[in-house]
Amino acid sequence: MTALVLAVCNQKGGVGKTTTTFHLARAAITDGLRVLVVDADPQGDLTSVTVGEDSLIEGQVGLADVLSDRSDEHIRDVIVPGIWPGLDVVPTTGDALEGVNNELVIAGAGREQRLHTALADVIDDYDVVLIDCPPALNPLTINALTAARGAVVVTESRLFATNGLSRLLHTIDTVQTSYNQDLAIAGILINEHKQRTISGRTWKKEVDAVMADRQLPILDPPIPDRVAITDAEEASCGLDEWAGRDGQDLADLYTAHLHTIQGGLS
Ligand SMILES: Nc1ncnc2c1ncn2[C@@H]1O[C@H](COP(=O)(O)OP(=O)(O)O)[C@@H](O)[C@H]1O
Ligand SMILES: [Mg+2]
Repeated sequence: MTALVLAVCNQKGGVGKTTTTFHLARAAITDGLRVLVVDADPQGDLTSVTVGEDSLIEGQVGLADVLSDRSDEHIRDVIVPGIWPGLDVVPTTGDALEGVNNELVIAGAGREQRLHTALADVIDDYDVVLIDCPPALNPLTINALTAARGAVVVTESRLFATNGLSRLLHTIDTVQTSYNQDLAIAGILINEHKQRTISGRTWKKEVDAVMADRQLPILDPPIPDRVAITDAEEASCGLDEWAGRDGQDLADLYTAHLHTIQGGLS
C-alpha cells in the first residue's frame, strides 16, 4: 500500500494552509496512520510546529537539499521525527528553499518532478503524506501538485471571490494534463468561517453556488473561526489534546474531512 499524497494549497498567504496541514496530520495520527508532512513553504511555519525546537540543529538539512541540483542529499537523510509518534517531517529552515525555488525557475526538463521522484523512495513507509505549499503558484507548488494524488484547496469564504481561485484551479488543471494524470481536487475547504455573522452566511451561500456550478467537491461543514485552532497549533498540540469540549469537536471535524478526502480519492 502506498501513501495517499495530499498537497494543501492556495497562492494566497494567511488562509490557513499550514494550520489545516497541521490538524489534518493530527487527524491521521489519531486514526493510527503513519504520517509524513513535507514543509514546502520557505517560511518553514509547518516545521516550527511539527518538530520540537530542540530537534533542529544549526544548518539543518531539509527539503531544499532534496530538491536542489547542488546537493545530493537523499530524502531519507533529511527526514526528522515529528512531535507525535507516527509523525515524520521533511523540514524547512533558513533561506535555502527560496533559493531552490529560484533554481527551479530556470532549471530544465524534469524540474516539476523532483519532489515526486524523491518521495517515491519513502512513500511505502507511510499511509498519508501532507505537503504544505507556499503562498504562490511557483515551482514549489507545481512540484507539490505533481507529487500529489489530491489537492486540498484552503480558502476563506469572505475571500472566495477575490482570491484567485480560478487561477489556482487552472494551475491544477495544467499540472493534471502535463505532469500528473492522477491529480484530482480532493476538496475545497472553507476556513475561518464566521457562521454566526450575516455576511458569513451570505458568503457561504455564494461559495456553495459556485461549487455546485463548477462541480467542485466542497468539504462541508467549513472550519470555523476559533482561537483554539490557532492556540493548539502554536502549542504544537492536537485539538483532541486541547482542553475543553470545543477542542474535541474541532478535532472530530478535521477527522471527518480527512475521511471524506480518503473516500473521495480511493
Ligand atoms: N480556523 C481558524 N480559526 C482561527 N484562526 C485560524 C484558523 N485557521 C488559521 N488561523 C490562523 O490564521 C493565521 C494564518 O494561518 P496559516 O495556516 O499560517 O495560513 P497560510 O499557511 O495559508 O499562510 C495563523 O495565525 C493561524 O493560526
Ligand atoms: Mg503557511
